[in-house]
Amino acid sequence: MNIQGQAALVTGGGSGLGEATARELARLGAKVAVLDLNMDNAQRVAQDIGGIAVPCNVSDPDSMQQAIETAAAAHGPARILMQIAGIGSAKRVVGKDGNAAPLEDFAKVINVNLIGTYNAARLFAAACAKLAPLAQDGQSDGARGVMVFTASVAAFDGQVGQQAYSASKAGVAGMTLPMARDLAQHGIRVCTIAPGLFATPLLKSLPEPVQQSLAASIPFPARLGKPSEFAELACHIVSNDHLNGEVIRLDGALRMAPR
Ligand SMILES: NC(=O)c1ccc[n+]([C@@H]2O[C@H](COP(=O)([O-])OP(=O)(O)OC[C@H]3O[C@@H](n4cnc5c(N)ncnc54)[C@H](O)[C@@H]3O)[C@@H](O)[C@H]2O)c1
Repeated sequence: MNIQGQAALVTGGGSGLGEATARELARLGAKVAVLDLNMDNAQRVAQDIGGIAVPCNVSDPDSMQQAIETAAAAHGPARILMQIAGIGSAKRVVGKDGNAAPLEDFAKVINVNLIGTYNAARLFAAACAKLAPLAQDGQSDGARGVMVFTASVAAFDGQVGQQAYSASKAGVAGMTLPMARDLAQHGIRVCTIAPGLFATPLLKSLPEPVQQSLAASIPFPARLGKPSEFAELACHIVSNDHLNGEVIRLDGALRMAPR
């Protein structure tokens, strides 16, 4: 799909990988709606790139539907969904006090990362499926839209304490192929990026020695990933019509150690 002129939704667009993706989409000529819980950040990014900021909780059906409609009213219906909003967590199954980890902590991460991704995807897909297929020079292969989800290498090699996070991201990876198969009839593609370690506000808040040791664990290049590298891949997935149903690791050949 040619990104130029398309309306795009970027969840989690106010920070980190989402912010970089919103910036790259705008650079490539998309009309970008920055969807985020954090409106200060969403507005900062949207103002910078000439997009719009839309309040959104990806896990909430009404909030997500409202965000899709608000963005469509400003930019026309979106053909691109970048689902990047997510939260991290680390919790031992049995705590130092000998007690079992609270179930609510596990449920919260699943609710944002996995249910939030599905919620955003189903509502976007329903709106996108109603659109006319894209055509170029009078020719069309039936393409209507594309979604990019964000998993993590923790979907495959999660560390001690990452049970909830890994399960949520493995769920995102796992639904990629069935959703691509399901939505093929509507001409909507689905791919997932599984990032390794990226220099976003989350990781940059760690002490410098910790950042350096994390970077050194990456075979090559032995540095944290740049958010712009994530954004480039996300936009490439949109442009390359034959990428579908795939989970792509973007990690410098990193395999996470147990701890
Ligand atoms: N940074 C990394 O190294 C890394 C590695 C692997 C996977 N990821 C994944 O990439 C995504 C982005 O990570 P980041 O490092 O850029 O994080 P970040 O915290 O910088 O950005 C996440 C954004 O999502 C928003 N958000 C959180 N919950 C939301 C909700 N319910 N509804 C709407 N918006 C919500 C936050 O307000 C924030 O702006 C996450 O899904 C994360 O799990 C990041």
